[in-house]
Amino acid sequence: MQNSVLEYIEKNRERHLEELKNIIKIPSISTQPDKKPAVLKAADFELAHFKAVGLENCQLLKTTGNPLVYGDWLHAADKPTILIYGHYDVQPPDPLDQWKSPPFEPTIRDGNLYARGATDDKGQYSTFLFAIEAWLKTAGKLPINIKIVLEGEEECGSTGIAKYVPEHADFFKCDAMMVADMPWLDENRPAISYSLKGLVYFEIAVKGSSHDLHSGLYGGMVTNPLQALSQILAKLKDNNGKILIPNFYDDVLPMTADEKKEIAGLDFDEKTTAKYLGVKELFSEKDFSPLEANWTRPTLDICGMWGGYTGVGSKTIIPAEAHAKVSIRLVPNQDPQKVQKSFGDYVRSLCPPGVSVAVDNHSGGWPVHIERDNAFLKAAASAYEKGFGKKLVFKREGASIPVVATFKSVLKVPMILVGLGLPDDGYHSPNEKINLSHFYGGIKGAALAFEALAETK
Ligand code: BES
Ligand code: MN
Ligand code: MN
Repeated sequence: MQNSVLEYIEKNRERHLEELKNIIKIPSISTQPDKKPAVLKAADFELAHFKAVGLENCQLLKTTGNPLVYGDWLHAADKPTILIYGHYDVQPPDPLDQWKSPPFEPTIRDGNLYARGATDDKGQYSTFLFAIEAWLKTAGKLPINIKIVLEGEEECGSTGIAKYVPEHADFFKCDAMMVADMPWLDENRPAISYSLKGLVYFEIAVKGSSHDLHSGLYGGMVTNPLQALSQILAKLKDNNGKILIPNFYDDVLPMTADEKKEIAGLDFDEKTTAKYLGVKELFSEKDFSPLEANWTRPTLDICGMWGGYTGVGSKTIIPAEAHAKVSIRLVPNQDPQKVQKSFGDYVRSLCPPGVSVAVDNHSGGWPVHIERDNAFLKAAASAYEKGFGKKLVFKREGASIPVVATFKSVLKVPMILVGLGLPDDGYHSPNEKINLSHFYGGIKGAALAFEALAETK
């Protein structure tokens, strides 16, 4: 390694942090249509940043949704080409009153940078840009070829990029892909992830009478839609946490005996996690530990439900309708379309007489499973161990980055999923943060990984 690269990273700590703050200040919330100008501003900001670090062919790629920011550097003849992915959009910051400092005014407390997007994903993908800068400004070249693409719709379904990638497969051609958008296992154990969940998401609407009714005048004569919805929702899972949709588990890739041993060996601290979450105890599907359930089992959650009268005081009505949102996280080899169909069929079969039920599908995505026995993955893992100065573990995720599956099926290359965050970084929560030592260690890890990947065939 050219020591000058690492020295450059050390010397530029303050400026890199300032530049990270500048992108974080842009409230690029992709789920809120009125934030579109901020989303576009973030794309322009990153386009300028790509140019500033020395990337070439920098451009905004038009999709059916928000633009992709693209740049590359392709002058390392005979060396591998690595495609880097990240997302410049963020989640809404609500509930605002729970933030200790405003979500889009990045603030440092106790060695952490607090802001929406600090860890998900601006603080993570930016490490690649600063590592590219360090190589190009010192060595004048990169040890590998790099293509980098950032999307602006990861938090709202990735529809633009999901269509763009299969239509431009050659453009993204590479030997391996790198993503940094996830946490370490805990504060002592950096991690590389080898599995992401898939996702399906439903909206259920139960409709009864044409208008809200007096609950005495018509009570006992009609089906109450909220009651009907509750009955349906209650039959989605049993008390052991098992999902009751027929044939639901048919395609689930079971964890191997080795994997079970490895997960047990990680000594996951349930008490600390329960304490951070503010729950009395953790609850998992029967016969599975919390980590096993989170990583290797599909999960179903009611994300919201509404209907009827929720204002102050009492209002004696039979509501005309009732609604719920439900998510299901899928594990390898479950097929989102198949699950969408069986969920819809099951929910409709549970509908009691006197009301009707409609099930709407939101966009979802496939799970990802990555072959761990891969030279690129191993090279990156040891580089990041050096960058962080800590031993690294392999883990799975309970969460999803749907477009990773799209890239994997189109490009058919190894995926390197590194995490820079921590489980308590507040992903999608108030007071999101990134630890500054993770940010700086991540820049070094990326710079070292570029070199290690250059020697990989
Ligand atoms: N970075 C997260 C995914 C993540 C979070 C991976 C925590 C590992 C641990 C990503 O931005 C995200 O939030 N994904 C969404 C996708 C959804 C909106 C389609 C998710 O998992 O809910
Ligand atoms: Mn993310
Ligand atoms: Mn996210």
